[in-house]
Amino acid sequence: MKKNQLYLGDCVEIMTNQIEKESVNLIFADPPYNLSGNGLHWKGNKTGGDWYMVNEEWDRMSAPEYLQFTRKWIGGAYRILKDGGSIYISCTYHNISEVMIVLKQLDFKINNIITWQKTNAMPNMTRRVFTHSTEFVVWAVKGKKWIFNYEDLKKMNPDKQKDGSLKQMRDVWQLPLVQGKERIRGKDNRAIHPTQKPEEMLRRIILASSNKGDVVLDPFLGSGTTTFVAKKLGRHWIGIEKDKKYFKVAENRMKL
Ligand SMILES: C[S@@+](CC[C@H](N)C(=O)[O-])C[C@H]1O[C@@H](n2cnc3c(N)ncnc32)[C@H](O)[C@@H]1O
Repeated sequence: MKKNQLYLGDCVEIMTNQIEKESVNLIFADPPYNLSGNGLHWKGNKTGGDWYMVNEEWDRMSAPEYLQFTRKWIGGAYRILKDGGSIYISCTYHNISEVMIVLKQLDFKINNIITWQKTNAMPNMTRRVFTHSTEFVVWAVKGKKWIFNYEDLKKMNPDKQKDGSLKQMRDVWQLPLVQGKERIRGKDNRAIHPTQKPEEMLRRIILASSNKGDVVLDPFLGSGTTTFVAKKLGRHWIGIEKDKKYFKVAENRMKL
């Protein structure tokens, strides 16, 4: 199995047939949430130009199809994780129930549900529910010997004790949606990927649950955030993305 490589294709097929069993230390997965095609459109949105509805072909399945898909890819992830390996799965209220059920069925141990509080969340256009301003990252482990670099996380926690001393990292992370220089844009200046994750989120996850030289894999790579941060932090990296356009974006990002 080659390390430091991007694969173009379906992650279930690649995790099952091309990645060695028990060869990966850490997986970050940001799967389709199955929220596209719900009829919500917001034409003429003028709120800064960085908020886009997710409306993608890869994000449209029936409920039974979605559960089956979740079983397949988390099953593939279980196969390639080493004993003591960690998986972090990005979720919203749309898909967290399926993800939790499958993790439990596969005998993963769930360690935390991290809440990402989006400090610049998109306003709610229906005005019929509370404004959604959170996403979740479920952290689960295979076996009992997982890595948790507790002291490093304390050092990177922006919150401090009243006397200025270091504070334990909590499970609520306040981070903005990616904007400014970090956001990858096309020639038309629009964000290229609708769900680009903040680099700071990946930095915390990778530093928490892997060490230098470990292998970090992302089965739904998108714009390449995970492999980009993993490389910077001295980890080996593997990314899988099935859409050619996004694959190219990730490939270019790895050259930076
Ligand atoms: C939620 S996005 C990930 C965004 C990524 N975290 C980032 O920071 O850019 C999910 C990505 O998974 C890809 N995808 C969907 N189904 C896939 C599959 N079966 N195998 C590989 N990639 C897939 C989509 O094309 C999309 O780019």
